[in-house]
Amino acid sequence: MTTKTDNATFTGVVGSGRTRVEGLDKVTGAARYAGEIPFAELAHGWLVLSTVARGRVRPVDDAAVLAMPGVLAVLHHGNAPRVDTDYIGMLGRPNPVVGLFQNDRVPFVGWPVALVVAETSEQAREAAEALVVHYDEEPHDVAFFAGHPGAYTPQDTPLVEAETAKGDVEAELETAAFVVDEEYTTPEEHHNSMEPHAATARWDEGRLDIVDSNQGSSWVAAELAQLFSLDPSSVRVRSEHVGGAFGSKGLNPHQVAAVMAATVLQRPVRVVLTRRQMFPLVGFRSPTAQRIRLAADADGRLRAFEHRSQSLTSTVVEFVEASAVLGRVMYDADAHHTLHELVRLDVPTPTWMRAPGEAPGSFAVESALDELAEKCGVDPIALRVRNEPAVGPVSGLPFSSRNVLACFEEGARRFGWADRDPRPGVRREGRWLLGTGTAAATYPSGVGPSTAAVTAEPDGTFTVRINAADIGTGARTAMALVAADVLEVEPDRIRMRVGDSDLGPAMIAGGSMGTRSWAWAVKLAAGELRERLALGGGIPPEGITARSNTADAIGALPEMERHSFGAQFAEAAVDVTTGEVRVRRLLGIYAAGTIVNPLTARSQFIGGMTWGLSMALHEEAIRDQASGGLVGADLAGYHFAANADVPVIEADWVDDHIPGDPVGIKGIGEIGVVGVAAAIANAVWHATGVRHRELPIRPDRVLRAAEEARRSAAGRSPGA
Ligand code: MOS
Repeated sequence: MTTKTDNATFTGVVGSGRTRVEGLDKVTGAARYAGEIPFAELAHGWLVLSTVARGRVRPVDDAAVLAMPGVLAVLHHGNAPRVDTDYIGMLGRPNPVVGLFQNDRVPFVGWPVALVVAETSEQAREAAEALVVHYDEEPHDVAFFAGHPGAYTPQDTPLVEAETAKGDVEAELETAAFVVDEEYTTPEEHHNSMEPHAATARWDEGRLDIVDSNQGSSWVAAELAQLFSLDPSSVRVRSEHVGGAFGSKGLNPHQVAAVMAATVLQRPVRVVLTRRQMFPLVGFRSPTAQRIRLAADADGRLRAFEHRSQSLTSTVVEFVEASAVLGRVMYDADAHHTLHELVRLDVPTPTWMRAPGEAPGSFAVESALDELAEKCGVDPIALRVRNEPAVGPVSGLPFSSRNVLACFEEGARRFGWADRDPRPGVRREGRWLLGTGTAAATYPSGVGPSTAAVTAEPDGTFTVRINAADIGTGARTAMALVAADVLEVEPDRIRMRVGDSDLGPAMIAGGSMGTRSWAWAVKLAAGELRERLALGGGIPPEGITARSNTADAIGALPEMERHSFGAQFAEAAVDVTTGEVRVRRLLGIYAAGTIVNPLTARSQFIGGMTWGLSMALHEEAIRDQASGGLVGADLAGYHFAANADVPVIEADWVDDHIPGDPVGIKGIGEIGVVGVAAAIANAVWHATGVRHRELPIRPDRVLRAAEEARRSAAGRSPGA
């Protein structure tokens, strides 16, 4: 067998649309997910969740439940194994689940107070539902609203700078030709992936072995090792197939509970969350109350840009929904101020949810820009052209590449923007008022250290080992294309191994950083392997393996503003007599570096845009003030876009070369959501002449707003 990979006919595969390498396994049911993988002697755990929002759990009397059929153990704060509650954690602070079964505190409705383990899942559930837990209740506060008296500026929150400021916003507001000063709100929203969270833990010859569904098994293994004071090498986490995650699949209570039970029972224990349990246990997007103040010259050039955003956090740990980061990238002004504030409430800890920060932040900023365009009498796209910054507005750093205006240009051409009558409320078709709107999109293009190994096998195939997480995005397929390109072979000769912490540390599938991070490591290892193979000689039975670690190369990257960009376009039809809003068209054009696999990339963009539509019109989790819990916490009660709500969605991209970049790839997982809700709200304004600053744009809100507009047009005050 020759070792040469040079192939005169090879023209490259990155950029060619390929179906998923595991696609056949998935559609035939051969792909098994974490909750389905069989184990001998498997026991099943069922979580018991608190029914009060704040207080203490009284000593748990588990005698009656222990006598029920099949029940093996009941773990709770009185008997569960102790963990290191002061551990450092991957983000420099303990994970929100750190207190699980460690004390009697109840911080919110839905906090796990016990785990019942039995021979079968049904027995565990029956016993869990029979367990009577008593509480000493305390008064709770779950009410989030703008101007909450408890709002404070967080310090030392991981990954987010609380505040940035330059210039004098007040002074610019006083002397500017045009001012926008408005409040925007977004509700609590939930990611609830198709595959519920599931973990099986067991001890295997002194090693902790966990089969899980997560976004990064290196991360989950490292957190568990710290939490249980274990040597990192003695923890293995596998996560072969993941049915969606969206920020919710890190370390959650079920993995910790499964490890505790497996340790106590010395048997494999599986804990699967029900869909209802996912609502309080796996994080969510905080509601936001945002205030934007813009000051502009007569031509729309910004003189002041201010974005203050309040979100909520739990009493367990701080989490910041970083909505105000968007303006730090998108818009400069002489005076520039961005601020995050938190309100601590007796609610579950929020977390990253697809496009954390930018999704709600872009609704406020990109709506406010549209309001400014209206006031100045400038086209919304022209306004953005006029305010395009040369360098990072806060950092002063150059952009690695910034092709947002190319996105607007291409989008405007394809959407037919030039024919748009700027006046609101003038297009009518039967009962429908029609309007179009646009918004910018951006999301960071970060990178995290990763290791990879690429092996040339004696049979002429190659094996790529990288602890990527394929959470449904097509990560395996993308990495096969990246490796194939370097090795100059067809991708069907590449075998992918992902989703196993024993493969070595790698970046999580999060923050739109996976593909860029893993591709870098795969490119380095494949490149080195190619060089070794070029030397000639045979391949030994164990193959020839080249390894990479990108940590040093990442450390040597010059400081720059690195982001993906995009432009969103929406057409909305509004019936102001029923309050119905239908989105007729969505178009997203993106600049996101090299698109590795157009087939799966387009799916990612369209999926994100569908989230944006759902955010604009449907989604809101309602918290019951009396009980502190969610109303209708399931996929029937939590309203989101259904098939009939989703129109033709087009997503495409422009060339986005990143000069000097060693990877050439940016992230695409989250940017599809960004700006869509604003584009739709702007289209609803264009259709009706009424601004909606509160999401979702529900029929009752459309009706009330239309009624108020009619009254004020008739010279009477609203509600008179
Ligand atoms: Mo994404 S919300 O960082 O998984």
